[in-house]
Amino acid sequence: MSTTRDLPAPAPAPHDPAPHDPAPHDPAPHDPAPRDPARVAVSLTGVHKTYGGVAPVPALRGVDLELLTGSVTAVMGPSGSGKSTLVSVAAGLDTATSGSVRVAGHALDAMSPDALTRFRREQVGFVFQGYNLVPHLDVASNIALPLVLASRRPDAGWSAHLVDRLGLAGLEHRLPGELSGGQAQRVAIARALVARPSIVFADEPTGALDARTGRQVLHLFLDVAREFGQTLVVVTHDAGVAAATGEVVLLADGRVADRMHAPSDEQVAARLLELGR
Ligand SMILES: Nc1ncnc2c1ncn2[C@@H]1O[C@H](COP(=O)(O)OP(=O)(O)O)[C@@H](O)[C@H]1O
Ligand SMILES: [Mg+2]
Repeated sequence: MSTTRDLPAPAPAPHDPAPHDPAPHDPAPHDPAPRDPARVAVSLTGVHKTYGGVAPVPALRGVDLELLTGSVTAVMGPSGSGKSTLVSVAAGLDTATSGSVRVAGHALDAMSPDALTRFRREQVGFVFQGYNLVPHLDVASNIALPLVLASRRPDAGWSAHLVDRLGLAGLEHRLPGELSGGQAQRVAIARALVARPSIVFADEPTGALDARTGRQVLHLFLDVAREFGQTLVVVTHDAGVAAATGEVVLLADGRVADRMHAPSDEQVAARLLELGR
């Protein structure tokens, strides 16, 4: 039998705290200045969102949430719990009914529609379930689109690095219709990262892919985000992927029901079950 049996048990080290250390993270090599000295990427305070109509639907009912710069967070919860509404409001794609939303130090509720559009172009990346690639533009042009829209000069080195890192080398001149679902979503991820936004939101980005491909793409997305020090918020139903993010926000009935730091797959799955996934 192994002699290690007789040694004292090693100190429990269930989770590596390093990625969540409050010390400033190393800025990405292309970006020597930290983006946000306050270290808070997103802050929602008392956010309510009620969809209008004959019978108003309260989708968010008092959300308080703070996410640190460089954090990678999974948002989970039963269908209809407000996940899509939360990321839309935090990304400035939709407005809160009341409460305050601050992203990268900017109060979104105080912005005019034009300012909000500019802000989104410059600071926010978004990955949708349905890819939303422009069908008549090739892969390279789809990836460059956020820079074109923001009248920014492309950084060829950075784009090439993204293409390479996301396994898209050789596909630059294909049209979206000539890509598999997994390839298309990797293009959408490159596009969300190309302008080095302060924050990237992804709403069930692999919901249209088969489970195995979806998981591969999501793990790649998380790895790349970490490598770049990119703040990322991803809505997912996959407890394994959520556990890999390190920070899990659980929604139920339009409220934050729980937050988990570095949970295991099993802990996430068990908590979801309790919330009536
Ligand atoms: N555009 C809309 N108009 C009216 N109700 C909506 C709209 N979008 C979402 N809802 C409602 O708001 C609640 C939260 O929806 P959503 O944020 O999409 O939840 P999730 O993404 O967790 O499934 C649900 O009751 C949903 O039916
Ligand atoms: Mg949704």
